[in-house]
Amino acid sequence: MTSTTTQQGPQESRIFPSPAAFAAQATVSGMDAYNALCAEAAADYEGFWGRLAKENLVWQKPFTKVLNEDNAPFYKWFEDGHLNVSYNCLDRNLQNGNADKTAIIFEADDGKSVHVTYKELHEKVCKFANGLKSRGIKKGDRVIIYMSMSVEGVAAMQACARIGATHSVVFGGFSAKSLQERIIDAGAVAVITADEQMRGGKQLPLKAIVDEALALGGCDTIKDVIVYKRTGGNINFVAGRDLWLHDLVDNQSAECEPEWVDAEHPLFILYTSGSTGTPKGVQHSSGGYLLWAALTMKWSFDIKPNDVYWCTADIGWVTGHSYIAYGPTAVGATQVVFEGIPTFPNAGRFWGTIAKHKVSIFYTAPTAIRSLIKASDLDASVHPKNYDLSSVRLLGTVGEPINPEAWMWYYTQVGREVCPIVDTFWQTETGGHMITPLPGATPMVPGSCTLPLPGIMAAIVDESGADVPNGQGGILVVKRPWPSMIRTIWNNPDRFKSSYFPEELGGKMYLAGDGAIRNKDTGYFTITGRIDDVLNVSGHRMGTMEIESALVANPLVAEAAVVGKPDETTGESICAFVVLKQARPTGDDAKKLALELRNWVAKEIGPIAKPKEIRFGDNLPKTRSGKIMRRLLRVLAKGETITQDVSTLENPAILEQLKEAS
Ligand code: WTA
Repeated sequence: MTSTTTQQGPQESRIFPSPAAFAAQATVSGMDAYNALCAEAAADYEGFWGRLAKENLVWQKPFTKVLNEDNAPFYKWFEDGHLNVSYNCLDRNLQNGNADKTAIIFEADDGKSVHVTYKELHEKVCKFANGLKSRGIKKGDRVIIYMSMSVEGVAAMQACARIGATHSVVFGGFSAKSLQERIIDAGAVAVITADEQMRGGKQLPLKAIVDEALALGGCDTIKDVIVYKRTGGNINFVAGRDLWLHDLVDNQSAECEPEWVDAEHPLFILYTSGSTGTPKGVQHSSGGYLLWAALTMKWSFDIKPNDVYWCTADIGWVTGHSYIAYGPTAVGATQVVFEGIPTFPNAGRFWGTIAKHKVSIFYTAPTAIRSLIKASDLDASVHPKNYDLSSVRLLGTVGEPINPEAWMWYYTQVGREVCPIVDTFWQTETGGHMITPLPGATPMVPGSCTLPLPGIMAAIVDESGADVPNGQGGILVVKRPWPSMIRTIWNNPDRFKSSYFPEELGGKMYLAGDGAIRNKDTGYFTITGRIDDVLNVSGHRMGTMEIESALVANPLVAEAAVVGKPDETTGESICAFVVLKQARPTGDDAKKLALELRNWVAKEIGPIAKPKEIRFGDNLPKTRSGKIMRRLLRVLAKGETITQDVSTLENPAILEQLKEAS
């Protein structure tokens, strides 16, 4: 088990009751209300979810069956109901008085902003959807979206949903090779992209990377490349394949009848890293997924009609799906969509943007908070106290454990000690929040995601699947299916079963892949980190195997092992141990080769996968049967002394060599 978190969780004794003023108006008004919802779910699980699905979504044809467990773990929710996700997110708002309400405040990289109303967004999406239809794209087709943060990115997702096409958004920082792999696995018919993206004042390529991905070959299913003009930069155009978005949509009708789909229809596939092999295409449903995205906006974020909500994630990650593209629109919220980065033009950008748009609910990653703490220690002018943050009433975090010190800073310096913090634990596979305090109800403990949401049967078990008592760490599982859960891995149902419902645990419990512990007194959960070979760097998930494969694909490399190392700012950092085909380099040679390999990984996967540190060895520590001892490498990466017995190693002497950089 690789526990990499630095937090004190279970030992943390500070408890912060939910601020009284917040509690007085909260959607879930207190622990009694929370307990009542949990009791409702426990007493009649299907009745509970059925009620919520009727209350929170508009069904074109109502469902008569809530949950089908016949083919577990391929669960089906609301399967005979019909709906359309984009109808629920857009048309519903035109009908209930939100037509002229701002849906999106687009805050561009350069600080300019644009307001888009629900009526305008609806029109944009309908035209976009009609444009896609005019190219023959239809229900069930897969469409890759490779765009940066933009109104058009959100509209592209909604347009796919409107016509029943299944989208797969690929984060704009992934390399051509990663993009190509996803295009092939998804069998996509089109790519929607932009000419370039703007980040931190720089124009960065997007379309050129799509060209490169397609040139790598194997992408014969792609018929169209649709290009949103963001910067007007110079790009290559392939006649017959590439077309401008504006040319495609300008003359389309502003009405597009939604394609009604079964609740189980795949809304999207999102690739994420696992412990082995290539990234997994996590497949999500339409009905169950949207229910949870909408409901958690109300429960976890207490969203109200006058809120200005801002989630700083990118649409390339699941947070940008559930808590930008779908959740906020499904509840008619006004949200900021931010193109830029937290440090441009300076590290006060988040706080300045909150003040500018009077943001009331702010949701970001611990890694961003930690880097902004550092920045304001160095330069007092970017400290939150210099900005009017009085509009903020609720704060949230996601993506990795938050260390108590960062939590306290967020609470006092950003939240003025009057804003609850929701530390939301969830995953690409869970579709939405799983374990989080409810603002206005759950007393908060820094570093703990506290308690599961009502209806989420989270538990901690040992390796045989037996419950462990509070105070004893174990494996985090969910014992009952829930509506927004992953349905399968695209093209790989066997991998879905073995990854998430392993036989060792009885085949019926969802295995999250994280370790956790519950506090003896409060029963609160603290996540202790991944138990598999998945790293979490700045809240981004990465498989060590993927990075190792990228490294060994380099002609110079004979062998590589990648481990995570705790990092003050990014949570974890990537440390690679590499054996070259040539002699082990030292000094400047080692530096030069390390740089070359880091750039190689950036090209193979994307800059986010670059190892922070590379150490060269003549060999790697191995057992006599040839297994690489990653456990020992983790100790070496941390700079700690190995205390384990190493007598079973084939080559114990190698440890000395790998202790530090070459
Ligand atoms: C980690 C992101 C502790 C965890 C939504 C999980 C967290 C992985 C938290 C999923 C949190 C996410 N506290 N750890 N509040 N939120 N994680 O799929 O290890 O990108 O398994 O989804 O992030 O990452 P993913």
